[in-house]
Amino acid sequence: MKIAIVIGTRPEIIKMAPVIDEIIKRNLDYVLIHTGQHYDHEMSDQFFSDLELPTPDYNIGVGSGSHGEQTAEMMKGIENVFVEEKPDMVMVQGDTNAVLAGAIVASKLHIPVGHVEAGLRSFDKTMPEEINRMVADVCSQLYYVPTEESAVNLIVEGINPKNVIITGNTVVDACLRNLKIAENNSDILDQFEVDEKILTLTMHRAENVDNLERLTQITDALIELDELTIIFPVHPRTLKNLENFGLLSKLVKKDNIKLIKPIGYLDFLLLLSNSDMVMTDSGGLQEEAITLDVPCMTLRYNTERPETVTAGGNILVGSNKDKIIETANLIMNDPKTRETMKKAINPYGDGKASSRILNVTLTDYENGELEIKSPENIMNQFKRKIELIESNITVREFESTQNALIRVVYENNEATFPHEDLDLKNKLVLFDKYLQN
Ligand code: UD1
Ligand code: UDP
Repeated sequence: MKIAIVIGTRPEIIKMAPVIDEIIKRNLDYVLIHTGQHYDHEMSDQFFSDLELPTPDYNIGVGSGSHGEQTAEMMKGIENVFVEEKPDMVMVQGDTNAVLAGAIVASKLHIPVGHVEAGLRSFDKTMPEEINRMVADVCSQLYYVPTEESAVNLIVEGINPKNVIITGNTVVDACLRNLKIAENNSDILDQFEVDEKILTLTMHRAENVDNLERLTQITDALIELDELTIIFPVHPRTLKNLENFGLLSKLVKKDNIKLIKPIGYLDFLLLLSNSDMVMTDSGGLQEEAITLDVPCMTLRYNTERPETVTAGGNILVGSNKDKIIETANLIMNDPKTRETMKKAINPYGDGKASSRILNVTLTDYENGELEIKSPENIMNQFKRKIELIESNITVREFESTQNALIRVVYENNEATFPHEDLDLKNKLVLFDKYLQN
């Protein structure tokens, strides 16, 4: 089996690293394609060396540009590689333009797509990432979802539950595997004289850093947080905008704010694990913070990682200056809040997501289920029904006796995932009743 992996940006390199390791460990044939969306050493190459990843077989070298331009260039480059390499499947990760391009091109060529970190939804269509992840999910065949909540997002959109596998998030694999290495190898903490509590800060979301009003509010809040040492590895997009908006000089004047270039993964993990809190609009950081028991403040009004908020480890503060200051002070000065946030249970799994991803992929491939079916093999004659089940019967038993596919189970007015062993008694089910055998 030959797997094509498409990556393009920092978080994809990090989160696909455990999957690539697993592919190599199992001696599978693969082709690694970098779109080149991130190209600075600090945003790309240093992660290949930190994570000991092989050099990509192809780098499409798209660089920066408008969404249309960037995605179109990626699509052209990726299509050429797929035609040449003829992979049996394509794996994409997350919600960047690389995912959009990779998933569309593969599905047009009838190559099955496996989407790592599928099913996340912020329900905010102003985010480019929301569109990317929704389109990628339409194009995919296998959905490796991090949590039950993301699985439910997919099934209520009509995705077949049989193709949705709750694996946990590969970020936990990466985080746990590399933290020990970081502890032995990184000297990042020696670079700062830290007298106060550490707040690690990252931000790069277009809706924050491209917006003068929001970036000003966040900057003004940072300036007032005098009692914290703020370590801020600055994303290139953010640096450009802080300069253009004339905000950089305000931050540079503050001794307690340490502006640095983006740092490698090992350095970042060590910094994060030694931080008293993190402030971010990053997706991956919300997950890593709860994995490493670091209280997180998210500079957004919504999140596609709501599990972190429900678990109690993450507070959404938007870009409101007062709310940012008030929440940072609360976490810093109120031990009860801090401890509750630190104790939040990590919803993203046990660090074995990449192994589960490969197990299910190989099983499906060997059973001939990882194929885009030709028209004569598509059973589309069914009636979609809703029924209240009164007897003790599992999902598996119901489906085989009724020649049906259960789509969604409703219990206590909530949509839940139709796990095969789930007892359906007193539950409402939405199912497809096939009209032929
Ligand atoms: C992209 C992803 C975002 C992800 C983020 C991870 C999309 C739509 N966005 O956002 O989902 O969270 O990566 O960091 O795919 N730049 C450099 N050097 C680089 C890369 C970028 O200077 O190596 C600068 C350029 O000025 C560029 C800007 O940063 O225009 C934005 O880069 P881009 O890749 O378009 O989006 P990100 O903000 O990085
Ligand atoms: N990260 C890093 N160095 C930095 C900042 C972040 O290694 O200077 C890592 C971080 O640990 C996380 C990932 O980059 O794994 C998050 O990437 P980013 O915030 O760019 O993207 P997002 O997760 O929001 O898509």
